[in-house]
Amino acid sequence: MRKRVTFITGASGEVGQALLRELSQDPANQILTMDLHPLPPELRSLSTHVEGDLLNMRLLARLVSEYEMDTIYHLAALLSTRAEIQPEEAHQVNVEATMALLKLAAEESQWRKRSVQFIFPSSIAIYGMPDRATKAHFQRVREFEWNQPRTMYGCNKLYCEQLGSYFSRYYRQLAVEQPPTIDFRSVRFPGLISAVTVPSGGTSDYAPEMLHAAAQGKPYACFVREDARIPFMVMPDAVRSLLQLAVAPRDALTRQVYNVTSFSLSAAQVRDRVMAAYPAAQISFEPDLKREAIIDSWPADIDDSAARMDWGWAPEYDAERAFQEYLIPGIRERYAGR
Ligand code: SER
Repeated sequence: MRKRVTFITGASGEVGQALLRELSQDPANQILTMDLHPLPPELRSLSTHVEGDLLNMRLLARLVSEYEMDTIYHLAALLSTRAEIQPEEAHQVNVEATMALLKLAAEESQWRKRSVQFIFPSSIAIYGMPDRATKAHFQRVREFEWNQPRTMYGCNKLYCEQLGSYFSRYYRQLAVEQPPTIDFRSVRFPGLISAVTVPSGGTSDYAPEMLHAAAQGKPYACFVREDARIPFMVMPDAVRSLLQLAVAPRDALTRQVYNVTSFSLSAAQVRDRVMAAYPAAQISFEPDLKREAIIDSWPADIDDSAARMDWGWAPEYDAERAFQEYLIPGIRERYAGR
């Protein structure tokens, strides 16, 4: 008999670590994690971890022979800045590995005659506002608007949303009897900020970097100008959105991909909140015009009313609570004694 598990890819990344902590609170959850990197030592007892590459098909086949995956949280990805530097590698990780996992999940669903659930984090990067004036005009963007990404990462995520929908609705559509296939659900995240981890390779990274630098007494030069604005969300809300979407009744869902968000801040507003907690912080603005242009192409805010209506989504942390009750105390604890 194979062991039934929840499978998390990219588990050593920011969202992965936070999701693993949360899922492992329930001892009934048997968790299999995978990443190119080891888990941090404090998380190692929470799952069976496989260090390896998702593009290694033999490794995936071995995992399927040992484990029955009920739910897959496919988090592994190269983020937007890194994907611009290594576009082919990004395509391999972000698209080809997703395709391999979708196929694996579809075949599993057929084998068991029951859908494997496939939860996929997408991103604000799938949007592409053509210029700053348009961004200023269309403040809150709905799921079907401005789907014209200007990054490799955004293209990859948008296509994989479509692939996921395809696998869940039309895979093997010409077969005499269409076999059961996957239950695909996706959220589009805004920029995420964690008190515990720092991102690497993203473009929304200036906000968490500013905060973590201030907490360590290090100067920080922000790579976008002061009025550059995108929406953000703190990590506990991000994880909650994934878990809440996973348990939502399927017939309540009117779509497969949902915006979720919390608060929209300019870089100067992030700076002001950081300075309020760390008055001695040295924060300057030295825009990198190319990375800034990516931020300018992302909407100032996203409309998450579909998620609110269909599965009761609501963030717990607005900007005030996010900084006062989660980020600042969490970061103080993280760097205490260093
Ligand atoms: N945080 C991501 C990035 O900056 C966007 O999803 O790439």
